[in-house]
Amino acid sequence: MLQKPDNLKVTNQNLAIFASGSGSNAEAFFKYFRGNKNINICLLLSNNKKAFALRRAEKYGVPTVTFDRHEFYETDRVLSTLKEHHISFIVLAGFLWKIPIELIENYQGKMVNIHPALLPKFGGKGMYGMHVHKAVIEADEKESGITIHYVTENYDEGEIIFQEKCEVKPADLPETLAERIQKLEHKFYPQVVEKTLSVFQ
Ligand code: GRF
Repeated sequence: MLQKPDNLKVTNQNLAIFASGSGSNAEAFFKYFRGNKNINICLLLSNNKKAFALRRAEKYGVPTVTFDRHEFYETDRVLSTLKEHHISFIVLAGFLWKIPIELIENYQGKMVNIHPALLPKFGGKGMYGMHVHKAVIEADEKESGITIHYVTENYDEGEIIFQEKCEVKPADLPETLAERIQKLEHKFYPQVVEKTLSVFQ
């Protein structure tokens, strides 16, 4: 469990979450930071108009923005939207497209991702969702877990902020391992972001 010292101070932060799919991690953030005076979840952005993450955001009253490949890679629409909303920190939560260099440069050290395995193993292009859990089981790993890391121009290679392990059971299927890992994600991702945004007085 992460310690939450009494003297933890968070400066005002406006967060944007990027998600491509279900958005269960995004929802964990909406819940965790609901009513927080310092950390506001200001926007949910998605490349996928059908992403369930968008419905979850609407339920929590979080504004949503969608964009297509052309807008993301060949225009400054996303960056200017982030600037208009004074976004200070970006959380990637199941966002499947590679982040353009302009966004990375503008949010250096201010953009994090979560990966459902213990990096540097089982990361890189194509390693997402069930592909990760399948690879972990096929490699006969005894443990897996979550990795929260800064985002750089290379997939899954930024500095690691936090890892938490869990057992891989002999009878595990990718789905049962995914379930165990998802629980860790929902518990730790918002807490770790809060701690990352904190300074000690
Ligand atoms: C999570 O497993 C996360 O580790 C990975 O994508 C998945 C997103 O799940 N980056 P959800 O959309 O938050 O439910």
